[in-house]
Amino acid sequence: MLIRSINRVYKMSHLYKLCGTIALFLMLLLANAQVKAQDAAAGGAAAPAAPAGGGGDVEKGKTLFTNNCAQCHAVTSEKVVGPGLKGIKERAPGGDWLHKWIKNSSALIASGDQYANQVFNANGKVQMSSFPSLSDADIDGILAYIDQAGKPAVTADVAGAADTKNAGGTGGSGPTSGGPSELFTLVLVALLVVMLLVLGVLLVIVTILSKAVSPVSIGEGTQIPSTFSQRLKTGLSNTFNNPTLRSIVIWLFLLVAAKETIDGAYGIGIQQGYAPKQPIAYSHKLHAGQYKIDCNYCHTGAQKGKSATIPAANICMNCHGVIKKESPEIQKIYTAIEENRPIEWIRVHNLPDLAYFNHAQHVNVGNVACQTCHGEVEKMEVMEARSSLTMGWCIDCHRRTEVNTKDNAYYDKLVALHRKESKEPLKVANIGGLECSKCHY
Ligand code: HEC
Ligand code: HEC
Ligand code: HEC
Ligand code: HEC
Ligand code: HEC
Ligand code: HEC
Repeated sequence: MLIRSINRVYKMSHLYKLCGTIALFLMLLLANAQVKAQDAAAGGAAAPAAPAGGGGDVEKGKTLFTNNCAQCHAVTSEKVVGPGLKGIKERAPGGDWLHKWIKNSSALIASGDQYANQVFNANGKVQMSSFPSLSDADIDGILAYIDQAGKPAVTADVAGAADTKNAGGTGGSGPTSGGPSELFTLVLVALLVVMLLVLGVLLVIVTILSKAVSPVSIGEGTQIPSTFSQRLKTGLSNTFNNPTLRSIVIWLFLLVAAKETIDGAYGIGIQQGYAPKQPIAYSHKLHAGQYKIDCNYCHTGAQKGKSATIPAANICMNCHGVIKKESPEIQKIYTAIEENRPIEWIRVHNLPDLAYFNHAQHVNVGNVACQTCHGEVEKMEVMEARSSLTMGWCIDCHRRTEVNTKDNAYYDKLVALHRKESKEPLKVANIGGLECSKCHY
């Protein structure tokens, strides 16, 4: 009798241990989920917040701008393919000039309009796509968005994303970077409560079951159960009581949970190895590898601007106007152009807004090869992110890499100064490549 009850207590303690393990497992999972959720929330907050006092127009304008104009224009004064559009309303002639231009710039140029021809010539006579399908309201939305985005409020947003809360927008309604993460916390707390309830119910069930089963399995363990359900019960409880099996299961649980958590924590915002399927089966291996088309032919911004830019469909048409027209993949380019919408390439590399990276600085001034950062692109059938794009990655290279000072008079004085102080070659770190403000606004 005594032995039996001791046995039962002993077994119960095992049960509680098991429940404890389940609880721990849940907590770990939850911590993991929270990390991921925070990541998502941070991602959400990093996107420019809804502008102050803006109606639906600005929001819609932003979408239209991103989908139709962003590959050639920045909302700042920086030139991409076309001029930066900051202050465009003040710069362009009044009336409906802007509407006419955006709907069909070539017609306006052909009509002999003075400003239109001036802009056209000033930008190397590059043809801007026409947008006959945009309504006047659409265009007003786009212009309102450009107006909003060009104002310093946006820079305040970026600063806001960096130090989460203290972002005071100019228009009164500050960006809501705190909002989403608070919501997530709430949802997570609710989830935790539900999970604990489930755990409690499980505990009760397990206790009741074990009470019902224990006399059979402990006392007359050798007794042959007569009914199927009894046999099942004994079988189950035997399996359940097998210490080796049980510890294996528990350890497996723990290991998986730990691995998930660690991966989650390290993987925040890192997209190394990310290689999404693109809407058109475009291959760098074929174009840049086999046909040796220069990277700069398509990524026109890399030498002269911040962004390398993704080519617009009309660059593809320079060749595919005649090459392989019948291919279904090439037909997708035609459809996009006919429907006057851009090809929706999926972005592979993406730094958070709080970090500033400039292609021209690295490719043109620094003479760093594309492949140093992007890997052997000319061998990629599908584009893949090869570098982690973390702060450590940037800093590490700045510590290691010598500045390309050859034929660059700008650096002559710096080099002379540096020689006086040190025998080491001039590294990027020596010219300010480790200063926070160089990479963070
Ligand atoms: C394929 C690249 C491309 C796309 C896409 C594009 N533009 Fe342009 N845009 C240009 C170029 C290049 C110029 C300079 C004029 C020229 O060469 O025709 C220009 C000029 C302009 C100008 C006049 C700038 C000035 O300084 O006066 C405005 C306004 C403009 N674009 C608005 C838009 C809007 C709005 C969209 C999206 C609906 C858009 N563009 C899409 C290439 C583009
Ligand atoms: C014929 C045009 C063309 C040429 C030449 C070309 N690319 Fe691309 N590149 C594209 C297109 C289109 C995309 C978007 C689709 C994709 O990601 O595969 C792209 C995407 C990329 C991306 C990823 C962009 C992102 O979303 O983050 C990188 C990096 C890149 N190219 C680098 C290079 C390098 C380096 C070379 C030269 C070795 C090169 N490209 C040559 C057209 C080209
Ligand atoms: C400088 C010329 C050139 C440019 C620019 C160019 N391509 Fe190509 N592309 C080719 C050649 C050459 C082939 C191989 C055709 C063949 O296999 O006969 C090809 C093949 C392709 C194929 C494979 C078609 C098939 O069915 O085999 C796709 C898809 C493609 N290109 C997409 C694009 C896209 C998208 C762009 C614009 C970002 C682009 N190309 C720009 C020259 C070019
Ligand atoms: C020093 C490292 C480095 C070098 C060199 C470099 N890139 Fe990039 N590239 C990046 C980073 C970082 C991003 C992500 C930028 C972002 O999200 O703002 C990027 C993004 C891109 C993109 C996506 C569109 C964009 O501009 O954000 C393309 C396309 C691209 N690079 C092409 C090239 C080409 C072509 C070359 C060579 C001419 C090149 N890159 C050289 C680091 C580099
Ligand atoms: C492969 C090496 C390499 C990597 C990776 C790299 N850089 Fe650089 N970076 C350079 C070189 C070389 C220069 C010097 C260019 C020059 O001569 O002005 C430079 C210069 C800079 C500068 C200007 C510094 C100054 O004081 O003028 C900034 C800002 C910068 N890098 C940001 C970044 C960021 C952000 C990243 C990561 C996303 C990054 N870099 C990754 C090599 C690299
Ligand atoms: C060479 C460029 C560079 C320099 C210099 C630099 N950073 Fe960064 N930093 C980055 C990049 C790129 C990221 C984004 C990394 C990512 O997404 O994983 C970043 C991210 C961050 C973050 C956000 C981390 C997170 O969890 O996303 C903080 C905070 C930060 N940096 C602080 C600093 C401080 C403080 C300094 C000066 C001591 C500094 N950085 C110097 C490039 C730089």
